[in-house]
Amino acid sequence: MTAKLPTLRFTKFQIFVHVAALLPLVVLIIDALRGNLSYNPIQEATFRTGKTAMILLVASLACTPANTLFGFTPAIKVRRALGLYAFLYALVHFTIYIGVDYGFDLRLVLLELEEKRYVIVGFAAFLILLALTLTSTKGMQRRLKKNWKKLHKWVYAAGILVMFHFIWVQKSDIREPLIWTGVLGLLLLLRWQPVRTRILSFRTSRRAGRRKPRPTEPAKVSEPEPAAQ
Ligand code: HEM
Repeated sequence: MTAKLPTLRFTKFQIFVHVAALLPLVVLIIDALRGNLSYNPIQEATFRTGKTAMILLVASLACTPANTLFGFTPAIKVRRALGLYAFLYALVHFTIYIGVDYGFDLRLVLLELEEKRYVIVGFAAFLILLALTLTSTKGMQRRLKKNWKKLHKWVYAAGILVMFHFIWVQKSDIREPLIWTGVLGLLLLLRWQPVRTRILSFRTSRRAGRRKPRPTEPAKVSEPEPAAQ
């Protein structure tokens, strides 16, 4: 008897998201092998992986509002994958930092923790992402029940810590991190109940306005009635 393998079916959107998420890593590896990583390859690799991790984290946070508020349901299917990719890039980012920069000498890393505030917030965000990744399976979701939702709300704290990390890492120009902080702020605002209710009721009323009149309903009068003679 032959065992039936589970069929893996991906939508075009899912394939696009997986390819887009893996592309920066592939490009990084190719550039590293070709020696195309600027005059400071470690810094370049740290920057690239950090930036990608941050973008993917923000993208994963955008999925729920995209679905609940704007009806973009495919977003829900890629939310978990985006979060996991964000962790993957954060892991590479962290490994380059402690591995290549410090030769895995945790003593030196701890000294750095005391001195550099951006490392403290980055590390805190990394630990949150680690906890979320370890509990991201269906089995853990079942086991943790209500606590799973509570735990996974920490993703917002991770997002905020990452923005502080991004701002504090910059030497001078903080315009880009501020733009990303604004995007995160907007996403948090969209989750706020009063804002959600307003957007949803606006969408419902627009949909009702667009609904065609039923045959039994009197047609909408668009022109003024001719005056009675
Ligand atoms: C695990 C702890 C972390 C450490 C030790 C760490 C360390 C660093 C270092 C050393 C830099 C470059 C600083 C410089 O050379 O000027 C950096 C930049 C950055 N990191 Fe991290 N990081 C950590 C976690 C994270 C996480 C979790 C994220 C996002 C999810 C992240 C996102 C970024 C970003 C966006 C940049 C700036 C990139 C740019 O300017 O293009 N980091 N990080």
